[in-house]
Amino acid sequence: EVFVVIMAGGVGSRFWPYSRNSRPKQFIDVLGNGKSLLQMTYQRFLPTANKDNILVVTNDIYANLVKEQLPDISEDHILTEPARRNTAPCIAYAAYKIRQKNPNAVIVVTPADHAIFQEEKFTRVIKTATTAAEGSDKLLTVGILPNRPETGYGYIQYIESEDEVKKVKTFTEKPELDLAKKFLESGDFVWNAGIFVWSVPAIIKSFENALPDMAEAFEEGADKYYQADEKAYVDRIYPQCENISIDYGILEKSKSVYVVQGNFDWSDLGSWNSLHEIREKDTNDNVTDGDVILGECSNNIVKSETKRLIVLDQLEGYLVGDFEDVLIICKKDQDAKFREYVAEVKKQH
Ligand code: GDD
Ligand code: MG
Repeated sequence: EVFVVIMAGGVGSRFWPYSRNSRPKQFIDVLGNGKSLLQMTYQRFLPTANKDNILVVTNDIYANLVKEQLPDISEDHILTEPARRNTAPCIAYAAYKIRQKNPNAVIVVTPADHAIFQEEKFTRVIKTATTAAEGSDKLLTVGILPNRPETGYGYIQYIESEDEVKKVKTFTEKPELDLAKKFLESGDFVWNAGIFVWSVPAIIKSFENALPDMAEAFEEGADKYYQADEKAYVDRIYPQCENISIDYGILEKSKSVYVVQGNFDWSDLGSWNSLHEIREKDTNDNVTDGDVILGECSNNIVKSETKRLIVLDQLEGYLVGDFEDVLIICKKDQDAKFREYVAEVKKQH
C-alpha cells in the first residue's frame, strides 16, 4: 500500500513579492495555468496512490490554504506543525502516523513546490522506486542530471550498475561552490530531486539510528497521546525537535541510500530566472502574465497582478512585476543579489 506525503510548510521567498510568508510559492499559480504548485503536486500523485492515502504536512498558518486548495483531502490527512523545524520532523510526524494505518506501507515523500513535466515518465519512475522500497531497508532518492554547479541541491554519487535502482556511494547536501563544480565536472553525480521513497520500517529504523530523540517523541505520541489530543501533544513536542532537514539528518549519514534516475523534466523553481526557463515564451523570449504590451523587448518576465496595464519598450533581460503593494523592476538573472535585497526589504516591510 502506497502513501504520499506532500511537504508544504516551507516559506519560499524567491518569488517575492509574488510569493509571501502569508502565501508561499507552493500555494500560488506560478506557471500561469490556473493551478497552484500544491494542486499540481496532488494531481501528479493520483496515478500513484489512492486519494485517501495522500497526506499534507504544513505549518498551522497554512492549514486553511491547504483545505481551500485541496478540498478532497480530509481534515485528518492535513498534519499541522506549530513551528518551522525543516523537513526531518515533518517526515517523522507523517511516518509514525502512517505506521498506525499500515506498519508495512511504502511512503513517497514529495516537495509541494516543484514543476514536473512528462507525468507518465514521472509515474513510472515512482513506480520503480515504490516497488524497490516494498519490504526493504532501502532509502530511495530520485536523481536528476545536473547542468550547472548549483549549491542549493543535494549531490548524489552512485555505483554504476545495470539495475534501475543504483546504490549510492555518497550524498552531499548543499556543497560549497568549489565542490559543486568538481562534482559536475566529474560526471559521476546527479542532483537530489527532493523526492524520497521508503517503507515505514526503513524510515523508522533510520530515524531511530540517526535522530533518536525525534523518533522517540513521535513514537510516544502515536502510541500514547494522539488518541486523547494529537494537536496538544504535537504542539508541545514540535518546538523541541531539532531543526534539521532529512538530507542532513538522515540521507548524508545512512548506508542504505539508493537512487533511481529521473528521466522527466524537473525544475525546483528556485528563482525568477528558472521560471523564465520553463515557461512558454513569445518569439522574443518574453514571458508575460496579465495586462502587458511590449514594444521591442526581449528575454523579460513581466507580470501584472493589478488592473494597471504595463507598457514596455527597449527592455532586455528584466523582471517587471506589478503587485498590489509593490512594484519591482530588476535584472532577471541576478539571483544572489535578488535574494540579498529581498532579505533587506523584508526586514523593513
Ligand atoms: N511541512 C513542512 N515543514 N514542510 C517544509 C518545511 C517544514 O518545516 N521546510 C520545508 N518544507 C517543504 C518545502 O515547502 C518544500 O516543499 C520541501 O519541504 C523541501 O524544502 P526546501 O526548503 O525547499 O528544501 P531545499 O530546496 O533547500 O532542498 C531540498 O530540495 C532540493 C531539490 O529542490 C533537498 O532535498 C536537496 O537535497 C534537493 O536537491
Ligand atoms: Mg526547495
